[in-house]
Amino acid sequence: MTDRGRYIALEGWEGSGKTTQAALLAEHLGAVLSREPGATPLGEHLREVLLGADYWPSPRAEALLFAADRAQHIAEVVAAHLAQGRDVVTDRSYGSTLAYQGYGRGLPLDELRALIEYASGRPDPPPTGHRLPEVILPDVVVLLDVPLAHPRTRSRQKNKGAKRKDDIDGIQMTLLGAEESHTALQGDKFEDADSSFRERVWHGFRDLCAAEPERWVLVDGTGRRPGVAERVREAVAGKLSGDA
Ligand code: TYD
Repeated sequence: MTDRGRYIALEGWEGSGKTTQAALLAEHLGAVLSREPGATPLGEHLREVLLGADYWPSPRAEALLFAADRAQHIAEVVAAHLAQGRDVVTDRSYGSTLAYQGYGRGLPLDELRALIEYASGRPDPPPTGHRLPEVILPDVVVLLDVPLAHPRTRSRQKNKGAKRKDDIDGIQMTLLGAEESHTALQGDKFEDADSSFRERVWHGFRDLCAAEPERWVLVDGTGRRPGVAERVREAVAGKLSGDA
């Protein structure tokens, strides 16, 4: 029976370089690259609802929709790969729910934690040959730390292109579920949020990182990409070997 794969999440504010670093880390580990929201066909629809301008879910509805996306992601992508011994790197995970819906929108953290646990439950029946825990949470969460006012350099085209190929530092990566979205040419609701919301989210991420040091690790996200990538790799290796 193979050992299960490792599940690693990159978290951070928009413009932290998280998406690029997730791709570089996945490449380095030979891992499956995934994301929340939107890594599955159902998740693609939920992503449009959540980030597009057509619907404005209430905070609770928003939390439930992100939870639905996560449940589908785990059932359809994460559990199966981990069970086969493949590592999975995800661009965002449960930390974003706590930071955005909890610290940002003001929903109670304990209620969100219960929702996250429910959404992250191992699928039933579990994948064959599995050695998966009952609740599938990332083994390591990397919080990419950039100052709140860090200039956003990424392209507005980030959501565009069915099964898009991202050319990152010469590496061609296929991003799961990155299908065309009407949010392609505009900021999404979260990017356009007011500065107090952004500040609460930013502080929320730092609190979450400090509160769960056995799982979370803060990595300096400033400076050139290769240097950040090196720090991310070291931090993940340290956490996985249990000595960081
Ligand atoms: P995305 O376009 O993937 O942007 P980013 O490059 O910033 O990751 O947008 C995802 C947005 O969804 C982002 O603003 C954070 C938000 N989000 C939540 O509010 N809660 C969640 O649980 C998740 C996974 C994401």
